[in-house]
Amino acid sequence: MSQKIILSGMQPTNNLHLGNYLGALKNWVNLQKEGAKCLYSVVDLHAITLPQDPDSLRRSTREITAAYIAAGVDPERSIIFPQSAVAGHSQLMWLLATMTQVGKLNRMTQFKDKSGKNAEKSGLGLYAYPVLMAADILIYKATHVPVGEDQKQHLELAREIASTFNHRYGEEFFVPPEPYIMGEATRVMSLRDGTQKMSKSDPSDMSRITLVDSADTIAKKIRKAKTDTEPLPETIEGLKERPEAQNLVAIYAALLDRTSEDILNEIAGKQFSEFKPMLVDVAIAHLEPITKRMAELMGDVSEIDTILRQGAEKANALANPVVKDAMELMGFLNVSQK
Ligand code: AMP
Ligand code: TRP
Repeated sequence: MSQKIILSGMQPTNNLHLGNYLGALKNWVNLQKEGAKCLYSVVDLHAITLPQDPDSLRRSTREITAAYIAAGVDPERSIIFPQSAVAGHSQLMWLLATMTQVGKLNRMTQFKDKSGKNAEKSGLGLYAYPVLMAADILIYKATHVPVGEDQKQHLELAREIASTFNHRYGEEFFVPPEPYIMGEATRVMSLRDGTQKMSKSDPSDMSRITLVDSADTIAKKIRKAKTDTEPLPETIEGLKERPEAQNLVAIYAALLDRTSEDILNEIAGKQFSEFKPMLVDVAIAHLEPITKRMAELMGDVSEIDTILRQGAEKANALANPVVKDAMELMGFLNVSQK
């Protein structure tokens, strides 16, 4: 098989949380070791599908970049860039939008969640969001997209759009991307309610651990996390119908790069009063260095800006020829060519 090309992104909105880290970012770091070409974008154009204050958007774009680097994404090995700095993403999105059925967009659960009861008043961008995401991926002919479980449906749509294009223009031009949903914590749940996804937009700050929380805050949030009264079970089966317990075990396992099964072998029979302090220690040991490095990087944003500029140059060099070729296939006259 030809070289693996990995692409993923996160929106610069609010602080990253443990779900973003375990569901996506930690896997991005591991994938760099496999020798694939890795592109990690800060998807600012996706962020504005909900209104953003300009100063906050600027700050978050740098902060997310700092989080990528602090977590271990290496700008020497991976291309880190702001989505908006590669105009081809928006350009390709339009081309792909013309071959995306609205019926398919209507089925996207993220749109339904984000638009809420007032879908009629939500912006066209929020609705078309998955088409831009497809463009982000297809423009690099990415083969694998490491994301959390919640992005699976968007990935499926990207595959369908790729096939529609290829079928219509009679060439295997775009590569249908494979989702890479990895690790023990592909869907980290809220610390307050094990049936709800941990999310940036949950009004309760106690529901999530973020990459800017201090050690004390992490400890407090874990101590107060909702649990049940039973001791921890011996098998995975025993975690069924116990969403909070299942979540805390999965978090612990993912932080240590082990399986929940393996962890249960060690902690079966313990009460949460014993297990929670173990989780606190592991979470702090893992997250504190990331938080510190992020703060250092944010202390001098010029380094971040340089990394983003250089990343954007490399990304443009890859993306622009693909847009040009796609347009040629579609029959656009290339007037700049003799
Ligand atoms: P977002 O915050 O929506 O930009 O998401 C960035 C990445 O984090 C995506 O790959 C998501 O799938 C992943 N992600 C977000 N929330 C969670 C969660 N609660 N559990 C696991 N992965 C998540
Ligand atoms: N939709 C993704 C999310 O909310 C972010 C995203 C945008 C993305 N473009 C992407 C993820 C391309 C992977 C690949 O998490």
